[in-house]
Amino acid sequence: MREAPIGVFDSGVGGLSVLAEIQQRLPHESLLYVADCGNIPYGEKTPEFIRQRCSLVAGFFREQGAKALVLACNTATVAGVADLRRDYPDWPIVGMEPAVKPAAAATRSGVVGVLATTGTLQSAKFAALLDRFATDIKVITRPCPGLVERIEAGDLHSPALRQLLQGYVEPLLAAGCDTIILGCTHYPFLKPLLKSMIPEDISLIDTGAAVARQLERLLGERELLAAGPARQTQFWTSGDPYHFRHILPLLWKEAGAVQSFAL
Ligand code: DGL
Repeated sequence: MREAPIGVFDSGVGGLSVLAEIQQRLPHESLLYVADCGNIPYGEKTPEFIRQRCSLVAGFFREQGAKALVLACNTATVAGVADLRRDYPDWPIVGMEPAVKPAAAATRSGVVGVLATTGTLQSAKFAALLDRFATDIKVITRPCPGLVERIEAGDLHSPALRQLLQGYVEPLLAAGCDTIILGCTHYPFLKPLLKSMIPEDISLIDTGAAVARQLERLLGERELLAAGPARQTQFWTSGDPYHFRHILPLLWKEAGAVQSFAL
């Protein structure tokens, strides 16, 4: 079981930002990555639809013998993690949540911005996160329709993307935010562009590294951490495998075999 793979799931390529953190922290693990690119963006889908997709992908990972599941998607986590934990009580499942807690601890101005999908920002789980950790700070939220589609197309720098992003970030800066939470796993790929648009003393926070640590903790407790040096990463997409293969080196820094996920 120690050598079994870990299943990692996102609506698209965004979860590759989390996969990179997992691979860095746990270099001996074999990783299975499913991108539901055929149904992107999740941010505008109903929670019911997303729950069905989570359930299908979880079933697929179980068939592949995965020893753990990482929902590398904030939007899928708010919609689906509770059902998955109910359905698979003994399976280590790690979800994402916007970094409200670390941002509340880090902010000096007391004003924090959150960039995330509409689905994440409208969820009860996000409201509960604010109730728990944001009582002493002001939080400005900003849904960002259109960003995910650009990143899926492999666009991390174009003038049109810059203009779109500008419209989302400017109100946060105007409100006095000194900390911006990247509450969607696609957005860390925009860090270089974002940094060129904001003052140097504004921090950008995401939770990829924290998720990798949590995964390590859960596997360690169950004595499931892989020991050997070998590791393997396999990719599936419900979208166009050729396109995924094409943009993989841009987001993952390595080429890789990509199979079609037809569920
Ligand atoms: N990457 C996903 C997240 O973390 C969402 C992208 C989408 O809208 O599909 O929220």
